[in-house]
Amino acid sequence: MMTSIRKLHEAASDLTVPDLLPLLTAEGALQEELFKQARTVRREAGQDDVVLRGVIEISNYCQKGCDYCAMRTANKEIGRYMLSAEDILLLAGKIKDSGIRIAFLQGGQNPGSDRLLEQVVPVIKNDLGLNVLLCIGERPKETYERFFGWGADSYILKYETSDPDLYHSITGGRLERRLQCLEWIRDAGMKIGTGNIVGLPGQSLESLANDILLDARLTPDFVSSSPFIPNSNTPLQDHPKGSVEITLNTIAILRILLKKCLIPSVSALESIRSDGQTAGLNAGANVLTVNFTPREKRDLYRIYSASRFVVSLDHATNSIARAGLRVRA
Ligand code: 5AD
Repeated sequence: MMTSIRKLHEAASDLTVPDLLPLLTAEGALQEELFKQARTVRREAGQDDVVLRGVIEISNYCQKGCDYCAMRTANKEIGRYMLSAEDILLLAGKIKDSGIRIAFLQGGQNPGSDRLLEQVVPVIKNDLGLNVLLCIGERPKETYERFFGWGADSYILKYETSDPDLYHSITGGRLERRLQCLEWIRDAGMKIGTGNIVGLPGQSLESLANDILLDARLTPDFVSSSPFIPNSNTPLQDHPKGSVEITLNTIAILRILLKKCLIPSVSALESIRSDGQTAGLNAGANVLTVNFTPREKRDLYRIYSASRFVVSLDHATNSIARAGLRVRA
């Protein structure tokens, strides 16, 4: 039974889709063993202490049309906002005051926000002394180089699905371009984060296994797996939620394969299942993101849904304690 897990510890480059299928659907004793081995790998890699990030959702303007996201251009039902540089710096100060050392600036894909970043990133990096992590979509190569020059340390750009046809039908974009951007980001000097969504329409188990093989090829610094959350005013509003179990199994598999990688236990796990983020930590994750977006703006940032779970510092520290772990000093 456990032979399927043993393959994960051997060369990741030899791994195949059929090797991964029984692990993606693992339940009962096999799943417990998978999680246990993921925790062992995390400990041996010196990655047990949980990294906290403070996210500021800078803007919900987006030029994309992803079927799962309510910030898509076609959605006229939500009000649009962009925080001011002053607001962002104030919030970054709060992140620093709470002892968190990573300011995570997230927003819809909109080149219009780049002027704002030029103002805030150097201040957050140099004056506040925080690490700067960006997640603001696709840009030309030169723009990524500029972000790095302003002081950005790392960048998250999820590939969402490794199936080029599915990627195109759901986002309207090209997977090839997305992966090219990731390469540009890394070449510019930033650490890269990526990952998938579990439970997209027409996504097979084989496709999810291919996502993991893509992660193994990319060897990112951060990788995430997140269950799909149906979101009102989107084409996928009536599509069922993604599977928490498959997401947790993906986290554990990624931990065993990528060892030192930072893996978040995403808030979407918590919105589907109470204590879902502790479950993510128990499956091998080691990052939690605390939300610092002002309340009235947060309600407009419909990345998941109107009822998304908003992670407070208290919730994060409690989830970490329940997993028997500590916050990284
Ligand atoms: N369900 C799951 N993940 C989502 N994301 C956005 N909307 C959803 C949703 N409805 C994820 C995407 C994106 C990241 C910022 O959030 O993977 O890249």
